[in-house]
Amino acid sequence: DLYGADRANARGVEFGDRAALDALLAEVRQGGSARFTAAPVIDGRPQAGAERSVVSPIDSATTVGEVIEATPELAASAMRAALAGFAAWRSTPAASRAAALRRAADLLEERRGRFLHLLQAEGGKTLDDAMAEVREAVDFCRYYAAEGSRLFGTGATMPGPTGETNMLRLRGRGVFVAISPWNFPLAIFLGQVSAALMAGNVVVAKPAEQTPLIAAQAVGLLHEAGVPVSALHILPGDGRIGAALVAHPAVGGVVFTGSTEVARQINRALAAKDGPIVPLIAETGGINAMIVDATALPEQVIDDVITSAFRSAGQRCSALRLLCVQEDVADRMIEMIAGAARDLSLGDPRTISTHIGPVIDWEAKSRLDRHIARMKREAVTRYAGEIPPSLLEREASLYVAPHIFELPGSESLAEEVFGPILHVARFRADGLDQVLSAIEGTGYGLTLGVHSRIDATVERIESRLPVGNVYVNRNMIGAVVGVQPFGGSGLSGTGPKAGGPHYLQRFATEQTVTINT
Ligand code: NAD
Ligand code: ALA
Repeated sequence: DLYGADRANARGVEFGDRAALDALLAEVRQGGSARFTAAPVIDGRPQAGAERSVVSPIDSATTVGEVIEATPELAASAMRAALAGFAAWRSTPAASRAAALRRAADLLEERRGRFLHLLQAEGGKTLDDAMAEVREAVDFCRYYAAEGSRLFGTGATMPGPTGETNMLRLRGRGVFVAISPWNFPLAIFLGQVSAALMAGNVVVAKPAEQTPLIAAQAVGLLHEAGVPVSALHILPGDGRIGAALVAHPAVGGVVFTGSTEVARQINRALAAKDGPIVPLIAETGGINAMIVDATALPEQVIDDVITSAFRSAGQRCSALRLLCVQEDVADRMIEMIAGAARDLSLGDPRTISTHIGPVIDWEAKSRLDRHIARMKREAVTRYAGEIPPSLLEREASLYVAPHIFELPGSESLAEEVFGPILHVARFRADGLDQVLSAIEGTGYGLTLGVHSRIDATVERIESRLPVGNVYVNRNMIGAVVGVQPFGGSGLSGTGPKAGGPHYLQRFATEQTVTINT
C-alpha cells in the first residue's frame, strides 16, 4: 500500500521510487521550518490586533502559527481600499493579469513544501490529498490565465449587417468578496481569487476561520507574482466578517463556497440591500448518491466506494454519502465494502500509510459523533471502525472512525453528513425509479456515481437527475480542472462550473459597443 500506484501518482513520485519519496518528505519538513502568521492585509499593510494561536487538528498540543482576526471596521476599510484599486486593475491588460497568475503558479510549484506542510498541519490532510490540492491550485491559476487571455482580450467582433461595427466585451464587476471553506483551503481559496482577478475584479478574500495561515501564504504569493496590493486584500475571521463584507455597499459580486445554509444567508443579505443587484456565485454541499446495479463489477465498485466515501475523511463536498445497491447483489457488495473498510488506517496524516486523518474541528467531530450514535439506534450497523487507543488518549482528539450504516430506504438520509460515514440502501430490480425520485427529492445535485454495464440504465439515470457531475463506472471525487468542470445545481449551488470554460464569464459584465462608421 505504501507505494500503491494511485497514491504514488498523486505524489508525482514514480512507483517504488523510495529516493523520490524521501526527497519529497524532506521538502515538506523544510517547508515547515518557517513561522506562520496571518493578519488582515489591506493595501499590503498587515493590521494590528489580538493574536490567536492556530491549533492543528492532528494534535491539539501543536500550534501551527498565529492569526490576527479582522473586525467589522477593518472589513469596511478593506472594501473602501478595494474600490479605490478597481480602476487601475480593470485597465491592466488581460495579458498582464494572466502573467501574474502564471507566475503565481510557478511560485506555488517552487514552494510546494511550505504549502504541503500547512495543508497537513493546519488542514489535517494526508500527503496524497495535500499533493493533489497543490496540483489543483496550480491548475486553477494556469487554466484561468489561459481562459482569461482568450476571453478578456480585445473582445469579440459581432456581425455588422447595417454597416455598423459591433464589439462584445467582458469587463470586471468591481469589488468581489470571496468567501471560502476549510476543506480545500488552498485550491478553492486560490480558485475563487484567481478567477475574480482574471476577470478584472478587485478582491477582498475571507478565508475559513479554521485555515487562515494557508490563505495568508497564498495571498503573499499572488502579491509577489505581480497582483498589486491594491487589487487583493485579505481578512481572516469568522462568519461575522463574511457577513459584514456581503452587507457593504461597495460589493460588486460574491463568490462563496461552503454550506447551503450560509449560501442562503448570503443570498438573503444581498437581496435585502439597497443599490445595485449583486450576483452570488455559490457552490455548496450535496447528499451524493452512487447507484450500483446487478451488472456492476464488484471489485471495481468496492475500490470506488472506498475512495469516494472515505478519502479525505469524507470531508469533500463531492464525497459519496448514500450507496444504493440492487438487492440481488447487496449482501455480497456490502460485505466486501466492509472488509475493505477494515483495512483503512486511521491516524496522524503525516504518517505515509495513513488513509484517514482527523476531522477539522470540535464542532465537526461532535456533529459526526451524534450522527453515529443516532444511526446506531435507527439503522443497521454494517461496519463500525475503531479509534486506536493512542489517538483516543490525546486531549481533544478529532479522529472519527469510518462507519457503514444500512438504512431502511434511499429516502432516509435528509442532510449532508460531512465525514467518513457511508449510508447504504437496497433497491429492487424494478425499483430504480423510486431510487431516482428519492435522490431528486433531496433537492441537492452535486455529484452522482453510477456502476452499471447497461448503457440504457446509465442514460436513464443521467438524463433524469439534474446533477452537476456524473461519474460512470469509476469513483466520484477529484474533478480535474479543465477536464471535469465542477459544480452542482439546486441546493448544491447556483450552477457555475469551477475549472470550466463558462466560469470566468460569471465574474464579469458584458458590454456591447456599436460604432456607426
Ligand atoms: P460554512 O458554510 O460553514 O463556511 C464557509 C465560509 O462561509 C467560511 O469562510 C465562513 O466563515 C463563512 N461564513 C459563515 N457564515 C457566514 C455568513 N453569515 N456570511 C458570510 N460568510 C459566512 O462551510 P464550511 O464548514 O467551511 O465548509 C463545508 C461545506 O462546504 C460543506 O457543506 C461542503 O459540502 C461545502 N463545499 C462545497 C464545495 C463545492 O464546490 N460545491 C467545495 C467544498 C466545500
Ligand atoms: N473538486 C473537488 C472534488 O471533485 C471537491 O472532489
